[in-house]
Amino acid sequence: MIKSAEWICSPIDIGEVCPIFSKDIRVSQSIKKAELTISATGVYEARINNRRVGDFIFAPGLTSYKSRLQYQTYDVTDMLEKESILSIYLGKGWYRGRISANDKVINETDGAVIAELVITCNDGSKECVITDNSWNVSTSRILFSDIYDGETYDASAEIKELGNAVINNNIAKSTLIPQEGEFVKEQEKIKPVKMFTTPKGECVIDFGQNIAGYVALNIMANKGEKIVISHAEVLDSDGNFYNENYRSAKSQLEYICCNGHQTYKPVFTYFGFRYIRLDECPGNINLDNFTAIAVYSDMKRTGYIETGSKKVNKLYENTIWSQRDNFIDIPTDCPQRDERMGWLGDAQVFAKAASYNYNTKKFFGKWLGDLRAEQRENGSVPDTVPNFWLLSRSSTAWGDAVTIIPWRMYLMYGDKKDIEVNFDAMKRWVDFMTNDSLDKYLWTCVDDSEKMWRKHYGDWLALDAPMGSYRGITSDGFIASAFYAYSTEILIKAGKVIGRDMSEYEELHRNIVSTFKKTFTEYFTQTECVLALYFNLTDHRAETAKQLNDMIVSNGNKLKTGFVGTPYLLYALSENGYAETAYSLLLQEEYPSWLYEVNHGATTIWEHWDGIRDDGSFWSADMNSYNHYAYGSVVDWLYSVAAGIQCVEEKAGFKEVVIAPVPDKRLGSINASFDTAYGTIKSAWHYEGDKVFYEITTPVKAAIIIDGEKQSVESGSYIFR
Ligand code: BGC
Repeated sequence: MIKSAEWICSPIDIGEVCPIFSKDIRVSQSIKKAELTISATGVYEARINNRRVGDFIFAPGLTSYKSRLQYQTYDVTDMLEKESILSIYLGKGWYRGRISANDKVINETDGAVIAELVITCNDGSKECVITDNSWNVSTSRILFSDIYDGETYDASAEIKELGNAVINNNIAKSTLIPQEGEFVKEQEKIKPVKMFTTPKGECVIDFGQNIAGYVALNIMANKGEKIVISHAEVLDSDGNFYNENYRSAKSQLEYICCNGHQTYKPVFTYFGFRYIRLDECPGNINLDNFTAIAVYSDMKRTGYIETGSKKVNKLYENTIWSQRDNFIDIPTDCPQRDERMGWLGDAQVFAKAASYNYNTKKFFGKWLGDLRAEQRENGSVPDTVPNFWLLSRSSTAWGDAVTIIPWRMYLMYGDKKDIEVNFDAMKRWVDFMTNDSLDKYLWTCVDDSEKMWRKHYGDWLALDAPMGSYRGITSDGFIASAFYAYSTEILIKAGKVIGRDMSEYEELHRNIVSTFKKTFTEYFTQTECVLALYFNLTDHRAETAKQLNDMIVSNGNKLKTGFVGTPYLLYALSENGYAETAYSLLLQEEYPSWLYEVNHGATTIWEHWDGIRDDGSFWSADMNSYNHYAYGSVVDWLYSVAAGIQCVEEKAGFKEVVIAPVPDKRLGSINASFDTAYGTIKSAWHYEGDKVFYEITTPVKAAIIIDGEKQSVESGSYIFR
């Protein structure tokens, strides 16, 4: 039990330098099995005889540390020798880095590790080594490390012994939990595309892909020479290095060389970048000295799409990359600026697309554990989890992650446990909205629209926002009441899956819907039409769909929606007779559109439709990430409407499926596959002249719907023309 070990700290304050905790291990018998369990208030890397233990980068991971701190157990049987040195490097990570500075309780915790090594010998005897005050502490060559600001490493720094570790009884052991999430691992290794000098005279390397991770160095150098690297996602309109959009995140790497051949990669930090600028470097540097390494949660890829449009294929690839870059133990908004927060709204919007692309069960399962841990007594939830900024608000469409994501997990993986563990939290969220509202059966609050940071985020970054504002004009009351209805509907369905009596909530839902219809009799924005249609809140479906379609067409087949409206926009059209307009939006290339970004060289999904303007200028330096997955949610429409791969709610987990492709000649073709627990579903169509040919493979019973005609089939492959 790791809890019998002690939390240990450095005996001396060594400021920003990362300490190493070490212990000599002697084993007299031959070893049958050896298991090492570790956690830390920060991030750790363990080594045995200087070989890395495991491949989990940034262990013990990111959780709501006040209530949950993971530990990991590694099989180290093959790493131990008769005499070994076990060392644990400790960085500040999220726990004590600048990212959690607002939360003093977390951030000001002492840097500490806790570990236990259990050795079972072949003669049956057991030896147990635990962290205590017999461990040694020394300095390391990592002089500074911070998630936002980067790392400083001095390869020739002298390692100083600091004496014996000090036991720290102030740090709780009750919060320790076994690993729940996926391991964050090194993934793609990317060679640079080119090295060039900008008009300003900066030496810049382009890796051709915006990633989250770091650059590994492999160089010949002399002691004392320095390599200083800054990171950026884009170049400015003149072709100069630009990273103002990182805001206060310094994102800089400083490596001080030793003599001869050497390799280095950051240990306790990561960056969001496509370009690096060599602010300082020895003269003999060339492209071969650098490799970019993408780092993200090790989820299994489950979905693939290829279409007849190269640009749509690029949009799809960009979404895959934005998912990788932002699924670093928690779903983050962006990987580069001084946020990298688990924003609930972004995660909620993207969860469906994410779960077609990759198996997210474990990834979201762990994060939902943190979300439940952060839920307040009144049922409200903070806008980010972990709540490092101690936000006290609870916004519609953000908080609804509590209902939407567990329900999505159930639909994708068919595991009732995902509902059982989250049901109480889902219910409390709905009850919170009920109790918080000024008006019965709606979710309304005092309209303090004068304030920038009021309760709700609204249709965040929508293009109908007044000049200088981040919020679209759709009213908070409209959005909040619509999501109140939607979350209540999800709660009812979820409750029924696990055999609860939901009649009280069914009545509530009926009342919300009828009050909504009575209150909001007219729609003024694209997003209002979208929500009314998608959440089933209108008695005038055909009229509303026509209104939405007219709004889009009269706007030149262009959208105005933000974070709230965009995820459902194409559905609201295609499910109501306007698939052609949905495709026109998908294939639109002028601003604002998905392909506008592709045409402007995007390799990931932008936060703002206007991230880079036609003249190369930027819409803002403040809220302008080039790696925000929210609008990548369009990919779930490609899987579930264009290719038509849909789960049946009553047969969740794709035990039975509906395959209802919606072709469009302008896209030309689609070829989609999706791995389920029952096998791979494939759906493809292509045009030959005006004729469409379909090829469908299903591992389970399916209802195949083509041109409105439904046929029930058993598992197998089918061709339709
Ligand atoms: C984040 C968003 C987030 C929003 C809240 C931003 O700073 O980057 O993605 O959802 O704040 O409105």
